[in-house]
Amino acid sequence: LNHLLTTNELKVEEIYQILTEAQHFADGMKWSPEVQMFSANLFFEASTRTKSSFEVAERRLGLKVIPFEVQTSSVQKGETLYDTVKTLESIGVNTVVIRHGQDRYFDELVGKINIPIINGGDGCGHHPTQSLLDLLTIYQEFGTFTGLKIAIIGDIRHSRVARSNADTLTRLGAEVIFSGPIEWFDHHSLSAARFRPIDEAIVEADVVMLLRVQHERHQKKGSYTAADYHSQFGLTLEREKMMKPDSIIMHPAPVNRNVEISDSLVECKRSRIFKQMENGVFVRMAVLKRSLESLKGVYGNETTYSE
Ligand code: CP
Repeated sequence: LNHLLTTNELKVEEIYQILTEAQHFADGMKWSPEVQMFSANLFFEASTRTKSSFEVAERRLGLKVIPFEVQTSSVQKGETLYDTVKTLESIGVNTVVIRHGQDRYFDELVGKINIPIINGGDGCGHHPTQSLLDLLTIYQEFGTFTGLKIAIIGDIRHSRVARSNADTLTRLGAEVIFSGPIEWFDHHSLSAARFRPIDEAIVEADVVMLLRVQHERHQKKGSYTAADYHSQFGLTLEREKMMKPDSIIMHPAPVNRNVEISDSLVECKRSRIFKQMENGVFVRMAVLKRSLESLKGVYGNETTYSE
């Protein structure tokens, strides 16, 4: 059963397989299971991109998407995550996408649930499909990961995107450096030797990857005003001019404009922020295909891009 819970469980060749398949979808490949299949997207935390792009991906693969909203479900009566997923499995849902505020929520499900679980983000832990779509965007740009320098800048401690990308990019041969407020760095799981002052990181990087300040996960409120953060750690117009000629700007979004990045840079020539979102659909199609194909007896109909 091919769950996708963290990037750590994906071997390098599996990452490349998903990226290749995602690129084929981007180029027009079509695939759908031979039998009607159902999916459900369980988002216990807010989302625009991940939830909507999974739903587009599911519909493009011909799945029927069972509406599920936490607020109107029996979660409100105290039903557990396990019982919720087991119920959906019992009534014929073939795969679930879950986002949850608790780190590693999936540990209580694995081994007991018999349909693929795809992690749409767990707390401060992992965001595997965000990492894969970021990888696809970088690969489309540079055609390699080897030798690239990726600066991940911002609220690193609270960022599942930072952790997933640090894992994948390093294993794929890129050099990952970090910057932002040092008190928001994650000394436990990331190498402090790779921490740089913001102006050094910006000058060196092929990819400047900014992270959202995740106010909702901060226990101490208001340590920086928006203007202070922007001038000390944000991508200002002055810092953008310091970037290498061919380097690009990425951000998983949602963006706090004029905090992590100047408003006028969000859609500038270097920015790949909306390209990342576009690629999210193709990566999620590839991940869903991989999961559904792991179910016994599921075969797909594939047609190539010219159709
Ligand atoms: N990048 C990302 O995960 O966005 P959403 O929170 O809107 O899904």
